[in-house]
Amino acid sequence: MRFPTAIRVSLSPLYTRTHLASLKPHLYPSVYARMASSQAAVFGLQDPSLIKFQSLIDGKWVDAKSGEKIVVTNPATNDELGTVPEMGLEETKEAIEAAARAFPAWSRTTAKERHDLLMKFFQLMKQHHEDLSRLITLENGKTLTEAKGENSYSASFLEWFAEEAVRTYGEHIPSAFPGTRNVVIKQPIGVVSILTPWNFPSAMITRKLGAALAAGCTAVIKPPPETPFSALALAELSIRAGIPPGVINLVTTQKNVATVGREMCESKVVKKVTFTGSTPVAKILAGLAATTLKKVSLEAGGNAPFIVFDDANIDEAIEAAIVCKFRGSGQTCVCANRIYVQSGVYAEFASRLAERVAAFKVGDGLDDETTHGPLIHTRAVEKVELHVSDAVSKGAQVLVGGKSIPNTSFFIPTVLSDVPHNALINTEETFGPLAALTKFETEEEVIRLANDSDVGLAGYFFSRDVGRVWRVAERLEVGMVGANTGLISQAAIPFGGVKESGLGREGGHGISDYMNEKLITFGGLGN
Ligand code: SIN
Repeated sequence: MRFPTAIRVSLSPLYTRTHLASLKPHLYPSVYARMASSQAAVFGLQDPSLIKFQSLIDGKWVDAKSGEKIVVTNPATNDELGTVPEMGLEETKEAIEAAARAFPAWSRTTAKERHDLLMKFFQLMKQHHEDLSRLITLENGKTLTEAKGENSYSASFLEWFAEEAVRTYGEHIPSAFPGTRNVVIKQPIGVVSILTPWNFPSAMITRKLGAALAAGCTAVIKPPPETPFSALALAELSIRAGIPPGVINLVTTQKNVATVGREMCESKVVKKVTFTGSTPVAKILAGLAATTLKKVSLEAGGNAPFIVFDDANIDEAIEAAIVCKFRGSGQTCVCANRIYVQSGVYAEFASRLAERVAAFKVGDGLDDETTHGPLIHTRAVEKVELHVSDAVSKGAQVLVGGKSIPNTSFFIPTVLSDVPHNALINTEETFGPLAALTKFETEEEVIRLANDSDVGLAGYFFSRDVGRVWRVAERLEVGMVGANTGLISQAAIPFGGVKESGLGREGGHGISDYMNEKLITFGGLGN
């Protein structure tokens, strides 16, 4: 067999990166495999076979029929990492059909069998902890320390839902009629569409997929175009764990996202849609899913208030603000967005927080010295710039930072003081490393300010007055409260919001969102 000239030359990573994208794997499988493995070397993993450049449908790694590719870059360096297929409508339908074909057998496995497979998947995530974490840093930009935290968090959802699988108990309900008994059983809902964001390339998948698989559902996953490689590595590990073909399907897309997303929501074969991302997109998907009255779980945007009362432990409040505001360089839905500090401790809190933030080191997340990585892309940087300039134009002071590093995706971690209530940052999520401080006088006033938002995902406050702790926790209009802590995320909690922050809860008892309750009334039983 003669190969095209371009393929006969040496397989240097740079060279193959260009040509892997255009090679048809089915025509030259062995050359494709060598080029893919050479390209995977760019990632520097101990196990390069975790890197996949194709989507997964029905247990097969496949390219887009159009041959089109999405280029994925490292946000810290802007270097190209590799390409994945630009899938479209046809491939999405195939993925959904594959999930539907796999459903009857998968849904009939015992809960214990699903538990064991999920635990194997969990063990593989732990075994490949270093590689999976490095991958998160390479495509998302967060520091390796944070990426390791994410991989552990991500794996914990598989462990948690493995343990939930065997506890999807039903119920016996005393009957109103003589000679009858009511029994409620729980059954898997069917094929689930999973749409996930780039800020947690791994954990937002396992939070949904773990619940779906444990319940006995099959899945079609659409990862974000910015961070597909972590998702593909998870798919590869699911195969190694022994999860059968078709149970997990994964389509990568960027340009065709509207078409793919529509099919994932409107298809009659799909019985549930689960999404994490922005509120505007959540509304669109909810509308599409409503055409067939599907179940939805939507974890949408937040605008978390972080409140420090005069009676707070200031040391703890500062530590918590740093974690809560600057985790993932401020790119989580539960990050503090508005920081309200009571007048008695305002000056101390502001100057101590600014001093700590000034010591942060931004850079490549793989570098040991780096404390904070880049934002995902320059559009994200532009939003932070807008929030800073808007607040400053309305009277805010820059205590530290306040600007981006030109021609990069880096924004210098920033603290603003005297941010007025009408600043943009107080009404919309910044999703960046910007701590905006606003002074308040009374508990009533700050509760009113905190609740003056269309969204309500998380809220945090610091106080040592036990009465106030209960009052404020109960009055904040959010789904999750951190009272004297800035970190709430864990597999066991019901994660989700109120108002326009979404519908449903994930983690915790979230497996029930992937199951239907069925009543069976038995008659003719005598008294
Ligand atoms: C998110 O940002 O959407 C999730 C954050 C978390 O799970 O902590």
